[in-house]
Amino acid sequence: MKITSLQQYNDQVRKAKDSPEEFWSEKANNFKWHKKWDKVLEWDFTKPEVKWFQGGKLNITENCLDRHLEKKSNQIAIKWVPNNPNEVGVDLTYLQLHEKVCRFSNVLVNNGVKKGDRICLYMPMVPELTIAVLACARIGAIHSVVFAGFSAKSLSDRINDADCKILITSDGGFRGEKITPLKDISDEAMKTTPTIKLCIVLKRTNSSIKMQKDRDIWWHDEIDKVSLSNNAEKMDSEDALFILYTSGSTGTPKGIVHTTGGYMIYAEYSFRNVFQYNEGDMYWCTADIGWITGHSYIIYGPLLAGATSLMFEGVPTYPDAGRFWRIVEENKVNIFYTAPTAIRALEAHGLEYVKKYNLSSLKVLGTVGEPINEDAWNWYDKEIGNNKCPIVDTWWQTETGGIMISNLAGVTDAKATFATLPLPGIQACILDDEGKEIQEKNKSGKLCVKYPWPSMARTIWGDHKRFRETYFSAFKGYYFSGDGCFINEKGLFRITGRVDDVIIVSGHNLGTAEIESAIDEHENVCESAIVGFPHNIKGNGVYAYVICHQKPENKKKLSEEINKLITLHVGPIAKVDKIQFVDGLPKTRSGKIMRRILRKIASDDINNLGDTSTLLDPFVVQSIIAGKQKD
Ligand code: WTA
Repeated sequence: MKITSLQQYNDQVRKAKDSPEEFWSEKANNFKWHKKWDKVLEWDFTKPEVKWFQGGKLNITENCLDRHLEKKSNQIAIKWVPNNPNEVGVDLTYLQLHEKVCRFSNVLVNNGVKKGDRICLYMPMVPELTIAVLACARIGAIHSVVFAGFSAKSLSDRINDADCKILITSDGGFRGEKITPLKDISDEAMKTTPTIKLCIVLKRTNSSIKMQKDRDIWWHDEIDKVSLSNNAEKMDSEDALFILYTSGSTGTPKGIVHTTGGYMIYAEYSFRNVFQYNEGDMYWCTADIGWITGHSYIIYGPLLAGATSLMFEGVPTYPDAGRFWRIVEENKVNIFYTAPTAIRALEAHGLEYVKKYNLSSLKVLGTVGEPINEDAWNWYDKEIGNNKCPIVDTWWQTETGGIMISNLAGVTDAKATFATLPLPGIQACILDDEGKEIQEKNKSGKLCVKYPWPSMARTIWGDHKRFRETYFSAFKGYYFSGDGCFINEKGLFRITGRVDDVIIVSGHNLGTAEIESAIDEHENVCESAIVGFPHNIKGNGVYAYVICHQKPENKKKLSEEINKLITLHVGPIAKVDKIQFVDGLPKTRSGKIMRRILRKIASDDINNLGDTSTLLDPFVVQSIIAGKQKD
């Protein structure tokens, strides 16, 4: 069932609150189960332990694919648009996608993959990525997709953290004018990944690559050896479905673990309701499958709902800044879901690229990944939506698995810069620093959730203690998101941004610790501190304060070397925009860097530095400000 009126929305909110188990069971009943569950929910946020639909047996790919074959075998499941507009795209019907997934499942089984094994995917945005994800899920292997913009070091760290057995990659990936040498990067990564026994390589760019005997095999050779039929593994609701890494305030990236049954139910439910998906709609989410948005709203949500999901290989500015709109026109896209950073970048290129195309097919627009500023919202509304398409501003996280707070397109009201209302079933609230729920309107606090929802993360791979400490310890009995938020006089939620040391740059989460440790690799660097500062296109830019052992003779050269190290250790997305060489950093007496102050200096907000009385050496601040003005 889809919620189609405000009245229904209110009814569902009430029902989900009063009888959550009945509410979610009704949703679960729409799927194919081999065995129904014994218990709907068991939970304890202090451990934390959350189990949905225990004892239920199912396979998510049967629900994405097999379930639709009777009525939709000839409907397009994946419409793939290549990077180069002159290359012909690929349409995969539900029948074809099912066949390809079954075949590749057999390839994995032939190569010794068993239920519970971890498989790493480091691939471009091609249909085979979707096929490989679903094939893992079909045989019960846990997929760990690593965004194809990450460096060899980031890739090997992620492989080692989860002890992946197989790496699936391609010779290269097309992105605009560039080719990313994915196999070369994988080779470099595999020098330090003892658990990888096999590397399956897809041919995409025809780049010349090295194939290591006994380890590397071609996708196309393997596919020829297997049959079409495959019986999906029967998974328990709480068996792990995938791991996806996300950056935290401190330490290494966290392998967020999602399980099968609850994730499936929530991905479908949120997709259908937020976007108000109707049979026959052409749906396009521009995210990369390397991020949670791609997992939940390119692959699982749309396929579970039996929709047509458009998948684009390239970038918004190739061959020119009209590419998105050209794709909308050519494919008569009805629902379009993107990130504020893309909207701002395309706005900056000027209207001529928009006006060339007929965007009248659009019915619903969506945004995700960071707070959207009012200007960008208005531009999106007017120039792309022609003031007739509701914009859904969807707040959620890798950890939440699905959209948590958003208007439902055309059903509940939109308001610029407000994510608006929690979905029925989501009990979101705002806490003050003492952990009390804030009842006053327009007063900011920490965004938390006080009741479990089916698609919430269950743990961090290999580190349940860290899971508890990161999300369930700040406020006892609550899931803490790490975001700031207030609720206005009409009850609408407005997300104000991260309250921790995660910086969201062009919609990507970057942990300050990861970037700092890359910078600290430089022999002349003694210490560094990273903060975000407002950036017109990227939302946040990255500002580095760096202390050197020896005063740098050539600042430009040193800055380039630092960015090279960041590219090597993290990836090009984490490169810093500004570097300031300083003599000291503002630290508390206990040695903690006061990033709050550094953030203000980076943002030129120096008249309002707040309390600096706990600083070990208050003069450092003046010297940094003076240094910045001189630069
Ligand atoms: C931010 C992306 C404001 C937020 C799905 C969150 C948003 C982080 C919004 C998660 C939004 C996401 N408005 N902020 N509509 N959507 N965020 O894990 O800070 O890549 O905590 O998941 O993005 O990023 P992640």
